[in-house]
Amino acid sequence: MTVSSRNSFTIPYEYSVYFTRDVFSPDNPLLADVLRQFSPELRPLPIMVVIDAGVIAAWPNLQQDIEAWLGRQKHCLQKRGEILVIPGGEHCKDGFAVSQQILAEAWQRRLCRHSHIWAIGGGAFLDAVGLGAALFHRGVPLLRFPTTVLAQDDSGVGVKNGCNFAGGKNLAGVFAPPLAVINDAAFLTTLSDRDWRSGIAEAFKVAIIKDRVFLQWLCQHTEQLLDRDLSVMEELVRRCGILHLQHIQDNGDPFETGSSRPLDFGHWSAHKLESLSDFAIKHGEAVSIGLAVDLHYAAEIGLLTQAECRLCVAGLQGCGLPIDHPLLRAKNAAGQLLILEGLADFREHLGGKLQLTLPNSLGHKIEVQEYNRSLLAKIVSSLEYLGNSHEPKLS
Ligand SMILES: NC(=O)c1ccc[n+]([C@@H]2O[C@H](COP(=O)([O-])OP(=O)(O)OC[C@H]3O[C@@H](n4cnc5c(N)ncnc54)[C@H](O)[C@@H]3O)[C@@H](O)[C@H]2O)c1
Ligand SMILES: [Zn+2]
Repeated sequence: MTVSSRNSFTIPYEYSVYFTRDVFSPDNPLLADVLRQFSPELRPLPIMVVIDAGVIAAWPNLQQDIEAWLGRQKHCLQKRGEILVIPGGEHCKDGFAVSQQILAEAWQRRLCRHSHIWAIGGGAFLDAVGLGAALFHRGVPLLRFPTTVLAQDDSGVGVKNGCNFAGGKNLAGVFAPPLAVINDAAFLTTLSDRDWRSGIAEAFKVAIIKDRVFLQWLCQHTEQLLDRDLSVMEELVRRCGILHLQHIQDNGDPFETGSSRPLDFGHWSAHKLESLSDFAIKHGEAVSIGLAVDLHYAAEIGLLTQAECRLCVAGLQGCGLPIDHPLLRAKNAAGQLLILEGLADFREHLGGKLQLTLPNSLGHKIEVQEYNRSLLAKIVSSLEYLGNSHEPKLS
C-alpha cells in the first residue's frame, strides 16, 4: 500500500538595500539604524567581519574605522575574533576554499544561528563568502557591503551565492537572500578603471530589456561615466540595483526554478568568454561583449532596428566597454566556433530546451527558443571590424 502526506509551506523573504556614503564614519547613523531593526535575540550580538583583500589594499584605514565603529556599539554587538581578510577577485571563487574558510572560522569563533557575518568586497568575494555563510549551521544572516560597481548594481543585491567548480562558472551555489545590503558609494572611488566600467554593462543589460528611459539616461551620460563622475555613478547604481530588486520581487521566480532568465540577457556568450579567457576577461566586460553579440542578433532577425542596435552598442563603447574579443572567433579542431559551447551549456543548464531573452524594442524583451549558428558566425566577424573601429576596447 502506498501512503502520501502532502507538505506545503511558503517562507516570506524581505530585505532592504541601502545607498549611502562612508558607512563607518562616526557621523553616519545608517548602519546602527539598520541593525536596530533586527532586534536580535542575543545581546551583544556576535558578528564576524570578512573583508576582500583588494578593498583593504585600497582602504588601509578601513579595519581601524570598523573597529572604532564597533567599539561605539559594544553594548549591542560583539566582534568575534579579528577581522578576517581574504584575497578577492574571480579566483576566490575557484572551488570551495573560501567558503570552507568561512565555515572553519565561524566554527572556531563559535558563531551561532543568530550571529551575523558581515562581508565587504567585490562580487566574486561576496558570492564565495555568501556560500560559506549559507552553509554554516544551514545559514546565518549575512550583511553584504558590496564594493564594486557590479556588486552594488547587480550581484550583491540579489539572492544568489556560489562558486565556480570543475570549469563550470557558478556551478555550485545556493539561493540565500541577505539580511540587508549596504551600498557605500565611497568604495567605488578606488576601483581600477576596468572595475569601474565593468558594472556599467549590467546597467545596459537591464535597461535594454526593461527600462527605455533608463537606457536613454545611460546613453546621455556616457562621458560622465567614462570620466568617473561619482554622482552619476551613484544614480546608475541606484536605478540599476532597484530594477534588479524589482525583477526578483515581481517576476514570480526568485529562485529560478523555471526556464526564463531575463537577467541573463547577453550572458550565454559572456560566461563562455570568461572561462575561455581563464577569467582574464572580467564578468562585466564579457557581459558587454555578450550584449553586443545579442543586440546584433536581435537586429539581424528583425526584433530591433539597426539604429536601436547601434545606439546601445555606441553607449557601451562610449563608457569604455569592449564589444569584441578575438575569442569570439576561436574555433575547435572541427572548425566550430568555441563560443557556441556557451549556447550548449546554457541549454543543458535549462534542462535541454533553450530559452534566451532578447530585446524586441528598447526597454522590452521576448524569449526565443533557437539561435541561428550561421547568423552568429556572421555577427562575430562583423564585430571584429566594429570593435576595432572605436578606441576604448579590452587590452
Ligand atoms: N550572485 C550573483 O547574482 C551575481 C550576478 C552577477 C555577477 N556575479 C559575479 O560577480 C563577479 C564579478 O564581480 P566584480 O565585478 O565585483 O569583480 P571582483 O569581485 O572580481 O572584484 C574585482 C577586483 O576589485 C577588487 N576590489 C573590490 N572592491 C574594491 C574597491 N572598492 N577598491 C579597489 N579594489 C576593489 C577586488 O579585490 C578584485 O580584485 C563574477 O564572479 C560574477 O560571476 C554574481
Ligand atoms: Zn552578470
